[in-house]
Formats: sequence, structure tokens, C-alpha cells
Amino acid sequence: MQKKFKHAISLMTVLVIGVTGCAKEDNYYKEKYRPQYHFSPEEKWMNDPNGMVYYEGKYHLFYQHNPEDTIWGPMHWGHAISTDMVTWKHLPIALEPDDLGTIFSGSAVIDHNNSSGFFDNGSGIVAIYTNHKEGQTQSIAFSKDSGKTFDKYEGNPVLKSDYSIDFRDPKVFWHEETQKWVMVLAVGDRVEFYNSSDLKNWQYLSKFGPYVGARGGVWECPELFELPVDGDMSKMKWVLKVDLGDRAVAGGSGGQYFIGHFDGTEFINDNPKNTVLWLDYGADFYASQSWSNAKATDGSYYWLAWMNNWKYANVIPTGVWRGQMSIPRKVSLKSFPEGIRLVQTPVEELKSLRYGSKTIKDETITPEKNILKKYSGDSYEIIAEFELGTAEEFGFKLRKSDSEETVVSYNTKLKNISVNRANSGNVSFNENFKRKFTAELNPLDNKVKMHIFIDASSIELFANDGEVVMTNLIFPDPNSKDLELFSIGGDVRVEKLEFHKLRSSWKK
Ligand code: FRU
Repeated sequence: MQKKFKHAISLMTVLVIGVTGCAKEDNYYKEKYRPQYHFSPEEKWMNDPNGMVYYEGKYHLFYQHNPEDTIWGPMHWGHAISTDMVTWKHLPIALEPDDLGTIFSGSAVIDHNNSSGFFDNGSGIVAIYTNHKEGQTQSIAFSKDSGKTFDKYEGNPVLKSDYSIDFRDPKVFWHEETQKWVMVLAVGDRVEFYNSSDLKNWQYLSKFGPYVGARGGVWECPELFELPVDGDMSKMKWVLKVDLGDRAVAGGSGGQYFIGHFDGTEFINDNPKNTVLWLDYGADFYASQSWSNAKATDGSYYWLAWMNNWKYANVIPTGVWRGQMSIPRKVSLKSFPEGIRLVQTPVEELKSLRYGSKTIKDETITPEKNILKKYSGDSYEIIAEFELGTAEEFGFKLRKSDSEETVVSYNTKLKNISVNRANSGNVSFNENFKRKFTAELNPLDNKVKMHIFIDASSIELFANDGEVVMTNLIFPDPNSKDLELFSIGGDVRVEKLEFHKLRSSWKK
């Protein structure tokens, strides 16, 4: 009898666990505001992408992580891998704080020829990061098992500073012409360049700044890479990307870039020192980092950024997790009448998420008519090409309800494009959030293109094939799902509009 009772209890336990396990599974990545196809940590705090490297068919994404809390704190490197930059698998924490300090941002490289001596004549991943304690120093760690685990180098730190407390975020790459590793480092109001033959001994080369470009707050998270201009491999230019902690174009933290030449020692800016080139005209694209060892066939790089802003990052209204990445983007250089500019476009791999696609062709939009009335969604992509007509303004109202909307609009008189999140949903958690963002954009042959990605808590706009990009967080009610295509003061013609629902990339 007793035995039977025991058996019944264990059966019940199995059933309960089974049911709750299942319920848990169903709720996985379904919390309010949880992004469905952007990377976010399972729980707790995340900021910058780190150690981005492609190795043996896998894209590695390490990230600034506080595993104890949903606010910034003692930094670790969290870790995830993907074969397509879109579907991610979480892995255990890769780097934990030690006697030298917490683990701030940094990069990773493949040491193909065992220049470091860590790999018994094979190859492997070397991570180069900042240790943060009273001051900041650079350290390295290596992985002999394809990134699963890391050993810290016993000779750490490998680089110290006698003069700066802000001395961080090493981005390292192999410089072919000089056959050296080059490190770009953020040092207060400038960047510094170092080189090395073995990733352990570093020599100072030169600096870029101060008093150049935009300088609000300290400079952080630099990047340096070479790209073809207009896809022409015989016409290469170097891009130096530098983020600034405050007073960027959309307020708060943001990214800028310089175009020029890097000879292995020095970066020479092509533009006058007061020229400022912004990466993104939205508020939430910070600390972007490209994948090392993974160029596109046309020579472009792939990168993503932390989709957030230090102005409010610690108080955004998310739940068990806080922080998400932008979609992965292809980064290229293109010539415009005003000069060479960086363009960003969504990676092709995102197309694998599409379902329920619809296409509209050759429709005239008048102020009375909303051709998207029957559409709805909270996770989708829109690709639209407009021919300008008599409308003074036209665009989309997205994540809409009676009381909420996020508005993307083109103003034909002022020739500018904007994203307005002032009524996008929850905007009350910080005074800097409730805003409209605007950037100049010229029509091309009387046409304007908009490519928009909507997720549970973000909107990313790529205008005219990535000439202007705006990345913004939004926190609409989950039920705000309506769409509207509007025109004001006249007509506009939609040449083609594609609408693709995007499925979740998260499964347990
Ligand atoms: C940028 C940054 C880096 C630093 C890290 C600390 O967001 O401030 O400069 O390494 O975050 O988490």
C-alpha cells in the first residue's frame, strides 16, 4: 500500500514537472518586450558586443555581462554562438573577473600561425580585453577548444598605461603589409595604435586625436578596418570607428567614423578634423564591433551593436533581462556627391526568418486611404520604394493602437527622414527617451526607399539602401499591432512594398 502511494507521488511529480517544463518551454523568450529575433541574454544585464570572431563555421558573440543583476556591475564576458548570425545558442560565461579586475570590452582574433605560442603549432582563438580595477590594463586569454573555454595568460597584463585612467576596449587585427598584429585602443579623448608580433609584447605606434571629430564624453570601443569603395577592390579605404559616451547626434552615447589611410603605424584622416560622420541617426546603436575572420565576398564586414544608450540603459523597462543587440549588418563604403560614406544593410541571413509575405505594387497613397488596414504584427520587415508625388510628408505608423504609434516619415519639402517614438508606448522611464530623430536624405531619381525591421521593442530603419540608418528602442504595448501607410498634403506612389512577418529565432 505504502509502495503504491509512493509510486503515485512520483508519477504525479513526473506529470507536474512534465507540464511545467512544457509551460516553461512555451514561455521561453516570450516575456513582455522580449526581442524575437535580436540577440538578448537569457537573463540579467548585457552591454557591448565583445570578442566577435568567426571560427570553424561558427560566429562567436561574447558580450559585457553582469550575471548577478539587471543593471551594470562587475563585468564578465557572456558567450553565444551561431552559424548564421541570426539563431543563437547560449554558452557558459567565457571570462570571469580575477585579481587584475573585472573584464571590460575587447576583441578576439584567430592566431592562424601560432604567433603567440599558445597553440602547440596549431591555431586557436586569442581574446584581448581590458581588466578594470583602479586603473585599466590590457590582458589576453586563449582557447584551445574552439572558444568553449579560455585560459588567461600568466604574463597578464600585457599593456599598461602610466598616464590615463581611461585606457580600454582593445580591437586587434592582423595587418598584412607590416606582418604585425595591430591594436586600436580608446584612451580618453583619443585613440592609440600599438603593434605586436606575438600578441604578448606591444609597442606604441601613434595616436589619433584629440580635437578631431565629435568629442562628448570619453571615446570608447574603436574599430579599424579596410573596405573597398563602391565594391572596387583596387580602391581601398580605411575606416576608423569611434564611439563617444555622450553628446552624439541623437543625444547620449553614439558612434562616429573617420575615413582615411592606415599604413600600419598611423591613421591619416581624409577629411578636415572638424568633419563629423555619424554611424546611425537613432539613439540606440553603440559599441558596434565587426566579426574578425569573416569578410563577405565583396570585401564588406559584418557587425552588430548594443542596441541601447547609456542615458537610460540601466532603467529601460524590461524584466529578467536587460540589453539587446541590433540585427547583424553588412558594412560597406559608397561614393556620394558629398564624399565617401559608410553604408549599412541587413545581412541576407535574416531572410530565413520570413513567413506570411505579402507584396503591394503600383498603388497611389492618398490622405484618405490606409492600404495597410488589414495588416498587423509585432515582429516584421517592410521594404518599400516610393516615388514622390504631391505629398508633403508620407510614411508609416507602426506598432499602432488608439493611443500608441511609432512614426517613420519622409518630408519632401525639408528632404529629411525621421523616426518619432514620442508616443511609441512606455516612454516615461527616462526624460531623454521621448523623442523624434531626424536626418537629411535626398531622393534618388525622385524616389525614396525604406527598409524597416520591427521587433517587440525596437525599430531599425535603413533608408536608401543604408545611406541613413536609425536604430531605436521602443516599448509599445504588446497589443499595439496596427499599421498605417499615410500621406499628408497630397499623394505618393508606392512602386513596391514587401511585408514579411518574421518568426522567432529563439527556441530552448
Ligand atoms: C562601452 C563601455 C566600454 C567598457 C564597457 C564596460 O559601453 O563603457 O568602454 O569597456 O562598456 O562595460
